[in-house]
Amino acid sequence: MSRNLLEVDELSHAELAGLIDTMIAWKAAPEQIPAVLAGRGVALVFEKPSARTRNSGEMAVVGLGGHPVTIRPDEISIDTRESAEDVARTLASFHAIIAARVFDHTVLERMAAAVDIPIVNLLSDRAHPCQALADLLTIHELLGGLEGRRVAYVGDGNNVAASLAFGAALTGLELVVSSPPGYELDDIVVDRARNLGGAIELVTDPFEAVKGVDAIYTDTWVSMGEEAEAEIRREAFQGWCVDDALMNAAGPDAMFLHCLPAHRGDEVTAAVIDGPRSAVWHQAANRMHSKRALFAFLMEG
Ligand code: CP
Ligand code: NVA
Repeated sequence: MSRNLLEVDELSHAELAGLIDTMIAWKAAPEQIPAVLAGRGVALVFEKPSARTRNSGEMAVVGLGGHPVTIRPDEISIDTRESAEDVARTLASFHAIIAARVFDHTVLERMAAAVDIPIVNLLSDRAHPCQALADLLTIHELLGGLEGRRVAYVGDGNNVAASLAFGAALTGLELVVSSPPGYELDDIVVDRARNLGGAIELVTDPFEAVKGVDAIYTDTWVSMGEEAEAEIRREAFQGWCVDDALMNAAGPDAMFLHCLPAHRGDEVTAAVIDGPRSAVWHQAANRMHSKRALFAFLMEG
């Protein structure tokens, strides 16, 4: 049976620690990267737009000696032109891994049930595990480790927040999440993360959440697929913008993280994201380093 990565908590504590070690080692010594995908293809399927995930995915595959094939939303039309299962069976006959960005997380589960090659979640309505891997690498590099470091996630309790919560739980990173009422992290996610041993706190007030943290993380208020709710959401999230006042409340050394794309003036001010404490470009670059280690891990079976 092949391994998949639909959410971070499919990895054990030891596997995630090992993956982060590999990311760090290969980043420092790219000549050590094995060509585990030599002569093999990887399908990168997108139902939604992407800049970082597509480009980091393609370059990760190339770095492992493989050939990436990116499939844009209009080219396959999952469950319209053909079922998710038939798409997966077709792609599995050419490729070693299928990685997909979908609206509905269950599409990934159906693909995983239909084929015996790794399925990787490149973002769904529930999770963004590849983002969390890059985030953990970034925090590890910039704070010298993960265990006992403290991050405040200020904003929507969405797919990015959920995967970060699992990543934090598995690595000993302390996470405090501040969201407007009605937009909190799902109870199921919080319970699952706490069952892994995660120190996750939920507080409403963002100023209380950021006290003493090493980093403040935010994401868009309106995720892809939620555009019809944009106005209601913008209203609800007033007060959850990461600005200089919030950064100052966290302390002078706190860094700023964002998965991107960013909306300056909504979830973050230009002064913060373009300022000296922002680590967002380091974080974006790590999308490739983390995905390369993940694809190699999945090829090992
Ligand atoms: N953070 C992220 O996944 O970016 P893209 O949507 O551009 O891939
Ligand atoms: N939460 C955002 C993340 C984008 C990378 C979304 O789902 O659109």
